[in-house]
Order: sequence, then C-alpha cells, then structure tokens
Amino acid sequence: MTRIKRHQRYLSLAALLVLPSVTEVKSATLATSFYGSTQDGRHVNLYTMTSARGLTVKFISYGGRLTEILAPDRKGHIADVILGFPSMKDYEAKDKEGGFYFGALIGRYANRIAGGHFTLDGQQYTLAINNPPNSLHGGIKGFDKFVWDVQPISTSGPLVSAKLSLTSPDGDEGYPGTLQVTVTYTLSDDNALTINYEATTDKDTVLNLTNHAYFNLAGAGAAGGVFPQVLTLNANAYLPTDKTSIPLGPPEPVSGTPFDFRTPTPIGAHIRANDPQILLARGYDHSWVLNKSGDTSRPQLAALAVDPDSGRTLECLTTEPGLQVYTSNFIDAQYAGIGGVYRQSDAFALETQHFPDSPNHPDYPTTELKPGQTFYSTTIFRFGVQQ
Ligand code: BGC
Repeated sequence: MTRIKRHQRYLSLAALLVLPSVTEVKSATLATSFYGSTQDGRHVNLYTMTSARGLTVKFISYGGRLTEILAPDRKGHIADVILGFPSMKDYEAKDKEGGFYFGALIGRYANRIAGGHFTLDGQQYTLAINNPPNSLHGGIKGFDKFVWDVQPISTSGPLVSAKLSLTSPDGDEGYPGTLQVTVTYTLSDDNALTINYEATTDKDTVLNLTNHAYFNLAGAGAAGGVFPQVLTLNANAYLPTDKTSIPLGPPEPVSGTPFDFRTPTPIGAHIRANDPQILLARGYDHSWVLNKSGDTSRPQLAALAVDPDSGRTLECLTTEPGLQVYTSNFIDAQYAGIGGVYRQSDAFALETQHFPDSPNHPDYPTTELKPGQTFYSTTIFRFGVQQ
C-alpha cells in the first residue's frame, strides 16, 4: 500500500469534527519561494501549501520549521494559529538565545536525556549538554538548525506534499551512527497536516523525532492566551518528573490530579493548582502516556483542542506512545513574532514522541534503531471548526 493510500485510510479515524464548507472543488497547491539566507550563507526556501478548504501551512527548509498555519474559524475568519517569526534573521537570533524551537523538527532525540549520558550495547555515550544538567532536543545543533533538503512531491491535486531530508553524521552531538532522516509534510483536502517520519542508521543508535509547533487556536498573540481553550487527552497516565524534567520512573494515573484531561477541560482550569509537578514545570511540561488499542502502527487519537470562541478545533493523532504537552512556560515576552509579543501561556505544544530519557529507562518503549531497520512514525494535525 502506498504511503498516500495508507494516509487516506488513517483519515477516516479522525472524522469527528466538521470542516469549513467548500462551494467549488478547488485544488490544493504547493508553492516554493526564497525565504532568506542563514548567517553562514545557506539558502533557505519557504514552502506554502494551501488546501481546497482554505487552510494554509507555511514551512521553511531551516529546521523544517512550520512558520504559519492560517486556519478559518466558524465564520470563515482566518488567523495564524501557530507562533512564528517573520524572517530568517529572527529565527537565528532566537536560536542563539536558547531557542524555544518554534515550529521546528526536533532530533536526534526530542526531549531530555539525563546528564547527557546513555549506554548502548555496553558502551557509554556522552552528548552535548545544552539544558544543564541534561541534553535537550538533540543538543546544541539539533535538527532544528539544519537546512533540510526539500523536494516537493505533489504540488497540486487533492493533497500536496514535500519530502524533507537530512544526513546526521556519525558522532553528531555525541550520537552514534550515520542517520538518514526523511520527513514528509502532506496537506490534504480535509485540512489535515500529516507528518511522516522515517529514519535509518548504519550503527546501533537511539532516536526520538517530533515537531515543536506552538498552537494558539485563537490566533498567535491573542490577548487571552490559551487558558480558555479546551483540551481532551486520550491518556490515563502521565510521567511525573524531577526538577530537571527527567521522568521519575513509572507512569502515574492522572485521576485526581491537574493532569486529568480525559474529559474536555480548559487548559487554565488547574494550571494554578498547588501541585508539586505544576510548580516544578511552571505549568504543563510533561509526557502523557497515550491510551492505545488495536493496531498501533496506525495513528490514534491523542488530543483534541477546541477554542470555544472562534470554534477552531485541532485533532492530533499519532503512532507515538507519548505526548509532551508544553504550555510555553518559559516564553516570557522576550520575543516579538508575527503575532506580536509572545508571553507565558500564549500557546500549547503537542509534541508526539517516545518518552523522555528512554535510553536510561529500560521499562519504557524502546528508542533504539539498528542497521537494517527503518524507523516509521506518523502524526496528523487536523484543523476543523465546531459550530
Ligand atoms: C520542553 C521544555 C522546553 C521547551 C523548549 C519543550 O519541548 O518540554 O521543557 O523548555 O521544549 O522550547
């Protein structure tokens, strides 16, 4: 079965919400233009994908970053629902200051590895420490700072897509093996952005890939932040952490805690709870253990977010076992982006991934990849409206 056919099969799982109506059958489009140059002279392109139902997704080859997602509300008004920046200069300046990984593809290892150490096949590896005392999101120069090679695959029709690829050399940021990574962004006529990840290695290694878009369904920079937006998570358990955000051990039930989003709950409902985990993270910055059933090679519903005011909705489906929900706790009016000055709680990230620090937790789903194996992972972000 081709990837596209398989993708269409997944979509039937997600048909929970209405889509903006379309009066005439149009074609989706993908256009390429020059975006800017990095300070060291690398050429960066902008890719603009628009669906027949009026969802526009823009991304750049620098970090494979989603820079804008323009989504209609229940009245057809368009807003940019992710936090982004207007220029290459902005992205590079933020990266020097620590980053926040706005819209970026993350690798080799999304989330943290404790102390920047892990042991594989009896050998200890030492990683770049960029979030002391841990290694975060691949280290100092993670995939968010690579200029990816981008090949448009389909530029018009019911869906449009582009394949992004990179080679991460053996020893990159301390990780073993030459890793070949491809990520495919596909926009389909049901306003779903599908992200397919694939990777191979020439030596045993570990990996954990995700996208780090920050969503605000009211529009980036909307004055009320995301507290009124209603989140449902398909998870009965989460991973409490130590003060450096490393999981303490086995999952804990969400029942009776501020981490219980099993029924629709405003993001802000319990974010001021006097709970040790909320205090450590300054909000939500935790991995939820997703409930799974049946065929786990298919994306299953992980999260549903709804903005009651605009009616915009976002479903997230994934093949990954975990979902890091991050309420932009450390963004504190340092940056002015396309939507204005971004503040704490202005957005939520839904980072589909394996669990943090898995290489040091043999009881967690494995993040190991061996020569001859291909890593596959799929995440779908599907935008809609609720009347
Ligand atoms: C992490 C946060 C971190 C942020 C940086 C998130 O994925 O969970 O702890 O501060 O990325 O942007």
